[in-house]
Amino acid sequence: MEILDIIDKKEKKQKLSKEELQFVIDGFLDGSIKDYQMSAFLTEIDLLGLSDEEIIDLTDIMLKSGQQLNLGVQTVDKHSTGGIGDKTTIILAPLVASLGVNVAKMSGRGLGHTGGTIDKLESIEGFQTSMTLEEFKKQVNEIGIALVGQMGNLVPADKKIYALRDVTGTVDSIPLIASSIMSKKLASGSSKIVIDLKVGNGALVDNLEEAKNLGDIMVKIGNMNNRKTVCVITNMNQPLGYAVGNSLEVLESIETLKGNGPEDLNELVIKLGSIMVSLDKNIPEEEAKKLVKENLENGKAYNKFIEWVNAQGGNPNNIKKAKNVKEIKALKNGYISNINALEIGKLARDLGAGRLTKEDIIDPEVGFVLNKKVGDKVNEHDTLITVYYNEKQVNDEDVLNCFEITKYSDKPKLIIDEIGV
Ligand code: URA
Repeated sequence: MEILDIIDKKEKKQKLSKEELQFVIDGFLDGSIKDYQMSAFLTEIDLLGLSDEEIIDLTDIMLKSGQQLNLGVQTVDKHSTGGIGDKTTIILAPLVASLGVNVAKMSGRGLGHTGGTIDKLESIEGFQTSMTLEEFKKQVNEIGIALVGQMGNLVPADKKIYALRDVTGTVDSIPLIASSIMSKKLASGSSKIVIDLKVGNGALVDNLEEAKNLGDIMVKIGNMNNRKTVCVITNMNQPLGYAVGNSLEVLESIETLKGNGPEDLNELVIKLGSIMVSLDKNIPEEEAKKLVKENLENGKAYNKFIEWVNAQGGNPNNIKKAKNVKEIKALKNGYISNINALEIGKLARDLGAGRLTKEDIIDPEVGFVLNKKVGDKVNEHDTLITVYYNEKQVNDEDVLNCFEITKYSDKPKLIIDEIGV
């Protein structure tokens, strides 16, 4: 077999066999297939797509490129495809754990304009995000929740391919996203998987039809591997909740765990939490929803958060936000009709909340807190957004330009579709 023949075959839109896909992945991992050849192959996939069968084969090959964890207990994982202000994991994990659902989760750091859960949790003084597999399993058994950065040698094929996708403009390819996410979810050993697939200008996918295709194939792959998988497609055209930036998002998560969360964040947490609990306990979603709402109101979700933070060495009373604060005001009356999530994410990164390269050091204290959301009425001079900053600053006008104010706007729908329920 030759890589050039495989590239040629794909170019002629012919279906690749599992052996051919295996040859490509093996060759790329052992160095016999060079970066420039793999770039050509990935670009073809980006342009021409893959059939469902090819995506399923590719996922299986990537999954088997490394270690597969066996956690020894039933766990439920929630995965988000990434968005601005998305702090749902920090709320959902203790919320469902407070109802007896085990969460054993590996999360990533942020790169670019989307934040990573690990960075957010590290804004809590002392919070440790690495542990051995034994410690990880022990903590899950003892308190029903553990969350770490990447551990072990899981899906090395994805690590190497993702690094190349990042620099070849192939990050947004649906077949490549599906195989990347699902190979990692399957390898990390979760019994049930709930995927929050974000669609909109602040997300990886901004087209609803593509999002549905991605959701369909991910659900199919999960179920084929005996991991019941549900995908919820949610709106990412404005930041989720009010806070964007690491410690600011943790503080908002704490408020939500105490039952005082912003409307959209609360709605999403209740929806995803209900699905997680219903999958774990095999009960109807409506029944699970009652339990979820109860534990948000009676303090049990918050207490589980404190237990979890303490178990990982964190001090939940020491979460600092930047002392310098600036309010950006509306220049006219009307209704907020758009808040550009992507630009808010980029500006938060420019303040120091995110990274441009892996080596950049983030400032956990900085970011934004929105004072208005889409659909809110606004008067001239009302505060639209509050900037928390340290050394780095952003231009007020750039922040203001993220907001569109028109005569009238409704509140957008947050939960757009569900696949696999
Ligand atoms: N998240 C992943 O893990 N992989 C992708 O390809 C996209 C988002």
